[in-house]
Amino acid sequence: MKAINSESAVRQRYAAAARAPLAALCCAVDYEREHLKIIPDEVIQKDYGCGDPSRYLKAGETVLDLGSGTGKICFIAAQVVGATGKIIGIDMTDEMLEVARRNAPIVSERLGYANVEFRKGRIQDLALDLETLDEELRKRPITDAASFLAADELAEDLRVRHPLIASDSIDAVISNCVLNLVEPKSKRQLFEEIFRVLRKGGRAVISDIVSDEPVPDHLQSDPKLWSGCISGAFTEEGFVQAFAEAGFYGMQILARDEQPWRTVEGIEFRSITVAAHKGKQGPCFDRKQAVIYLGPFKEVLDDDNHRMERGHRYAVCDKTYQLCKKEPYHSFFAFIDPLPSVPVEAARPFDCSGPRLRHPRETKGHDYKATTQASQCCDDGGCC
Ligand SMILES: C[S@@+](CC[C@H](N)C(=O)[O-])C[C@H]1O[C@@H](n2cnc3c(N)ncnc32)[C@H](O)[C@@H]1O
Repeated sequence: MKAINSESAVRQRYAAAARAPLAALCCAVDYEREHLKIIPDEVIQKDYGCGDPSRYLKAGETVLDLGSGTGKICFIAAQVVGATGKIIGIDMTDEMLEVARRNAPIVSERLGYANVEFRKGRIQDLALDLETLDEELRKRPITDAASFLAADELAEDLRVRHPLIASDSIDAVISNCVLNLVEPKSKRQLFEEIFRVLRKGGRAVISDIVSDEPVPDHLQSDPKLWSGCISGAFTEEGFVQAFAEAGFYGMQILARDEQPWRTVEGIEFRSITVAAHKGKQGPCFDRKQAVIYLGPFKEVLDDDNHRMERGHRYAVCDKTYQLCKKEPYHSFFAFIDPLPSVPVEAARPFDCSGPRLRHPRETKGHDYKATTQASQCCDDGGCC
């Protein structure tokens, strides 16, 4: 494959797209109209998104938007999370940051609060503050190999001592049509960075362009297709798999355009929005809990390889039990707590390597002998 510098092609194209709207980069998206009212026209016109991850956010959340462009998704998200939430937009292109920062005070005045800020960084390296690095390099420019190596050391020092985005600090990472633009050699690191910055229990909600077949080499080496969200697209299944490889669980395709956005040489490129959760890592302890998978499928397999058949009562560790109680799983399960409950300090290690059914006597207790009257469900002429 011919080597191209995809990152500088992307930077140049989006610098131009920040100066004047570029129709070729636009993809029709049905944003919530109410949220667009306070956003200046310049931002709306320079919209290069392909989906709307902001509609999956909640009030009060701290949100990181990767590749924030002129800031449209950040300004929408600012309204969804409200005054108690916070939005950080990251972009590497100065021209995009300039438009977003110039419009931020206009949005906050119309909104009545200011909860959005924009930072300069590369989304595959969220620890490195490129503005601070710019400042330092103005004082000590790179002129030879020794100063290049010194700059490299300085960057490493900045990552550790003043990370642009701290580890475990974000409730939701969102992005709209950007991940495909990251060069192939950095894609793995990109997903690891998303994972690093999310707090345990946090989630990523990412809209992006994906392909229905792998993109062949000759399309990957075309700089215009690179910056046009085509060459770097994941396949649909590869996109979901990339989250799994970084340690996420519960991946779910929340939205998928039926019609392709573009078709190139018979390969379809369409927008999808995927959610992925952080928090399955950690030790397994037995607190005698059980879950029942409610269906409708005959069986399910989670991202820790727990296979469960519909209607059976499975022994699970405390960690899996707590995960099942949360999004995106909770509506698919019934939960059975033991009598009496087992305190965390008393819990023994649990072997999660294979499925194990849990007898009702294990949760109720072997001495459970209660006999009760029918419960009072007949008052309104209902059951029995
Ligand atoms: C297709 S535009 C999407 C902009 C915005 N999310 C929207 O919905 O309009 C891609 C943006 O991502 C930025 N970008 C691309 N690759 C990046 C990277 N590796 N790190 C940071 N920003 C990047 C570009 O500068 C550009 O602003």
